[in-house]
Amino acid sequence: MKDLIVRNCNLGNDDQTCIYIKKGFIQDIDPKIPELGCPEINANNNFVSSPFIDSHFHMDATLSYGLPRVNESGTLLEGIKLWGELKPSLTKDAIKQRALDLCKWSIARGTLFIRSHVDVSGDSLLAVEALLEIKEEMKDYIDLQLVAFPQDGVLRSNCLENLKKSLDMGVDVVGGIPHFERTMADGAESIKILCELAEKRGLLVDMHCDESDDPLSRHIETLTYHTNRLGMHGRVAGSHLTSMHSMDNYYFSKLIGLMVEAEMNIVPNPLINITIQGKHDAYPKRRGMTRVPEQIKAGLNVAFGHDCVLDPWYPLGSHDMLEVAHMALHVAHLTGQNEMKSCFDSVTSTSAKVLHLDKYGLKKGCNGDLVILQCNNKIEALRLKPTRLFVIKKGNIISSAEPTEYQLKFNEKLETTDLIFRN
Ligand code: FE2
Repeated sequence: MKDLIVRNCNLGNDDQTCIYIKKGFIQDIDPKIPELGCPEINANNNFVSSPFIDSHFHMDATLSYGLPRVNESGTLLEGIKLWGELKPSLTKDAIKQRALDLCKWSIARGTLFIRSHVDVSGDSLLAVEALLEIKEEMKDYIDLQLVAFPQDGVLRSNCLENLKKSLDMGVDVVGGIPHFERTMADGAESIKILCELAEKRGLLVDMHCDESDDPLSRHIETLTYHTNRLGMHGRVAGSHLTSMHSMDNYYFSKLIGLMVEAEMNIVPNPLINITIQGKHDAYPKRRGMTRVPEQIKAGLNVAFGHDCVLDPWYPLGSHDMLEVAHMALHVAHLTGQNEMKSCFDSVTSTSAKVLHLDKYGLKKGCNGDLVILQCNNKIEALRLKPTRLFVIKKGNIISSAEPTEYQLKFNEKLETTDLIFRN
């Protein structure tokens, strides 16, 4: 909680302004803030944004790539099997160390809010204990929101009591995975049980839902129904929703209205959806991401997640939410100016709504959290995925980097470029 003045900020409209952070909160945004005797930095007219938010992640599995082996088929089901092979050998210290390493990457990338699912379907709650400790230890640097996630199915693995215990321990959100239950009927029953549990405890819901290429996987319909029935409007997120990519168009036209009525939050995971879905297809291969343009057009709140970094499901990643938004833009054909901007918003402002974050944003009274990117605006940020020059949390500079500049040599003459488009 510090005081800081950031001068020459470009908020995306090319007008330079200053941001004054007092005791960790934004006190003023004005081009004419005088010297106040507190530390100052110069944004040099680079683009200043609120920090990135990852709406969907698995911090208990991250950085475990290759343990005990890699996922050769690249399918969701082999990933779940592999995770099951790794689980018995996990220790709390190892989970914490990997989570801590990931948090450092996140901070360097300017990702300061993470909703992480944590597996509650094993014999122990080791991962819950580990991530609750990380949440506390890292709270001055990164905000971690945890989801009780029954990876092997709350009914299929009979882990409802474990899930409830994790909520008692301090896990924030109720998760689920209806498409992995044994039958469609069990999937529907699991949604009913878990939504009622969340409603009773006043908690948010975020379910892995219909992560499948099966056009008849329609658990989102049931999730929407219970959201409406229980009055949980705006408090429920459907993660993945990849079956929606393959659904019948007429059915979709009915479903989307019901989802709007329930104020359903949508959390696609573009990097993972594009690599895991469509694996069983001959050409043409489906790309698997849910119907993002149509969902945005209908007024639904769409936020992107990274889901995985170097784990049983995904062999790449550095927890850069701009990489996620960049992939979404391409997969969903979101190349219009406002569409591209909406992709940036899906890893910042709309994600804040999914997580129900308080005081997020670049406005007076909000948290003094921001990222200075070496670019001019949202679209350039997506194009370049540029250097994060400063990452600031509650007025503290928690990460910094030198601007990237390439030295070119033509006929012994030196030139430089920073790749920025100035027209
Ligand atoms: Fe996930």
